[in-house]
Amino acid sequence: MLTKDTINTKFESYIHTQEDEQDLFGKVERLDNILKSGVLTGSEALGMVSLNKLNGSIKIKEKDGKIHDVIMLGSNSYLNIANNKRVVKASKKALEKFGIGMGAVSNYAGICDIHKELEQKIAKFYGTEDAIVFPSGYGANIGVITALCNNEDIIINDSANHASIFDGCELSRAKIKVYPHQNMAQLEKILDRIPDNIKGRLIITDGVFSMDGDIARLDKIVELAQKYNCKVMVDDAHGIGIVGKTGRGSSEYYGVQDKIDLNVGMLSKGPGGLGGYCASSRQVVQYLRLYARTYFFSTALPAPIAGGLVEVFNLFEKDRAGRKELLKKTDYLKNKLTSAGFQIGNSQSAIIPVMIYDENKLFRLYQELRQEGVYVNIVTYPAVRRKQCRLRLCVMKDLTYKELDKAVEIIVKKGKQYEII
Ligand SMILES: Cc1ncc(COP(=O)(O)O)c(C=O)c1O
Repeated sequence: MLTKDTINTKFESYIHTQEDEQDLFGKVERLDNILKSGVLTGSEALGMVSLNKLNGSIKIKEKDGKIHDVIMLGSNSYLNIANNKRVVKASKKALEKFGIGMGAVSNYAGICDIHKELEQKIAKFYGTEDAIVFPSGYGANIGVITALCNNEDIIINDSANHASIFDGCELSRAKIKVYPHQNMAQLEKILDRIPDNIKGRLIITDGVFSMDGDIARLDKIVELAQKYNCKVMVDDAHGIGIVGKTGRGSSEYYGVQDKIDLNVGMLSKGPGGLGGYCASSRQVVQYLRLYARTYFFSTALPAPIAGGLVEVFNLFEKDRAGRKELLKKTDYLKNKLTSAGFQIGNSQSAIIPVMIYDENKLFRLYQELRQEGVYVNIVTYPAVRRKQCRLRLCVMKDLTYKELDKAVEIIVKKGKQYEII
């Protein structure tokens, strides 16, 4: 009989085909058997569906068909802007004019005036000459990195950078160096050792780190980049529209907007839509349109999404997307959690890590919280090291204080039960 002690619950155990397996799908069957046994927890969210639009609380249908309400602390739609009336109206207008899809890649017949308008809005927002919009955020990182870097170049990464950045680095065939999360002394050590003959040098960092919620030390990074002749790319997926004096993201937070060479961001999180972009100089954007393969070989973003996003950037431009309310509620939740005794790291954004450090407890906590009406994200390997496993709470602007209080009450009860606090 399969028990927790006799089965291998490690994610990485199901990646490779084993010698005694019949064919490529052997591992697929092996994983299926484990999941069917019910011994492995943590995969219950697979198959869970939302039944209404994303507000603070939503109705969900579990895999077993049970329908219930949860307070949603697991969405990246921080500003709840996807349902904003003006955004939906603009999206509908584009839908009626262009239909649901573009039918071609951007360099052929895939873009319309709305895509161009969106790119101009993004460029204006960053104060750059131009911007390019990709149909996926993941694809934006892959496209930008592989277009610009090759095997004669070197890329230096923060260890906590997003998976799409590391995948892009691998695909580019550049030399890859990694410094411990936010460790500027180690970054400088790496830069100092780069041989003089390597001219193509790129430092890449998340702006707001997706699993920790802290902001990259861009003040120091741009200083080092200047000293060691590197270009700087920032992926501000979780910062755009949220952090900085007027919501222009992590580079605004440090007042270094004019020193970032490649402003990458996602349209799927704060902006509430889908896709990614890179705001940069006219020449760089022109180069990316020809050499970024995830742009060249992938169908353009649907016009209804682009249309809605144009309106989102109109709101961002005037700082009227509700950022301040979101940050007030985030601080409220952070204070409640720290007062209760939870360790929540150094978050400076709407992402709050709640450290658990024990995978067994993590899986059970996650599942029981959901059963009791709080949806949070579960984070362990491969997103972070197992020893650093955690729950990840994401605040949304439309959550009410009453909902936040209720969520805290449940989290504290469970935290005590599992001796986390
Ligand atoms: C930092 C970061 N970059 C890139 C991505 C990929 O973006 P998308 O989900 O829009 O493809 C994510 C999404 O999880 C992210 O957190």
